[in-house]
Amino acid sequence: MKKEISRKFCVAPMMGYTTPYARKLYRILSSNSFLFSEMIATKSLIHSKSRENIIDNDFNNPVALQVGGSVINELTKSSKIAIDYNYDEINLNVGCPSKAVQKGSFGACLMRDKILVRNCIEALQNDKIEATLKCRLGLGKELNYEFFEEFIDEISKTGIKFIYVHARNAILSGISPQGNRTIPPLNYDFVKKIKNKYPNITFILNGGIDNLDQAKSLLKEFDGVMLGRLIKNNPFVLKEVDKIIFKEKDKLIDETIINNYFEYIKPKLGFESMFRLLSPLLNIFFSVPHSKTYKSKINNYMKEQKINLIEDLLIKFVSEKNLS
Ligand SMILES: Cc1cc2nc3c(=O)[nH]c(=O)nc-3n(C[C@H](O)[C@H](O)[C@H](O)COP(=O)(O)O)c2cc1C
Repeated sequence: MKKEISRKFCVAPMMGYTTPYARKLYRILSSNSFLFSEMIATKSLIHSKSRENIIDNDFNNPVALQVGGSVINELTKSSKIAIDYNYDEINLNVGCPSKAVQKGSFGACLMRDKILVRNCIEALQNDKIEATLKCRLGLGKELNYEFFEEFIDEISKTGIKFIYVHARNAILSGISPQGNRTIPPLNYDFVKKIKNKYPNITFILNGGIDNLDQAKSLLKEFDGVMLGRLIKNNPFVLKEVDKIIFKEKDKLIDETIINNYFEYIKPKLGFESMFRLLSPLLNIFFSVPHSKTYKSKINNYMKEQKINLIEDLLIKFVSEKNLS
């Protein structure tokens, strides 16, 4: 059975960032945000020896596993893996424009073939897990509503319930993945229009939302929002999400947050690099004045793999700086 879950506020999938460790921190900071893994190629998901590390969930639900792929039987297997690891959703990425991803025949280039995408979604679907899609508005320099509408018309035949739209085109040659997140213009109106055509599909708006007040105001018109770079640059923004979006009590940044996080990462040391384990939490220094001494001490402790000393220092930091 699928659970009823709020996708009002989603943290976007981000390769190299939305690791299991980052998701642990996000969940400590916000109980209500809907989380995503990084995109994982179906082949790696099925064959990788380090699968355990890549997709560990540790009950950080609600959470989606995002996959990249277009081979039907691999997608079906991936969906089963997502169920085994207690994910709430499996999401197909048809928005990533990178060259490597195009070579593997997945990501945004799949938007050229809406029937294949429809088949891919059907391969992910079963009665235990929600199969969803993350797409762009279209391909190339010109925005074209008809293209977007015809694409969604085809996908809607699967009975899909949730579609995340990065509300700009992908340009598949001549610009980098970074450029593809800023150069093609945003168009939220396309999402508004398609949402009116398909009231039974929840469309989640993504792209260019750079503060929580904007997110809150967009929620008056859209069913859900998805934010990426704001959270990547400062995960501690999530502390405000339960208060501003879900009207719950404010959370304090205190010793418990640090303790909970270290409890999760300590057993991973030896299997995972110290940097990957700690980097989500080290954003705690974001725009806190006079934290230079702390940062340089932590750098030294990281080189010496002294995780307990780092934990003690961060506890001292939060109590001294009185972060609210
Ligand atoms: C570093 C980085 C990695 C990303 N990796 C993925 C990914 O794995 N899968 C995906 O669908 N989108 C990926 N994206 C795109 C984001 O999910 C999101 O669509 C995009 O950043 C726009 O949202 P924003 O303006 O809130 O950042 C990535 C973005 C960034 C910045």
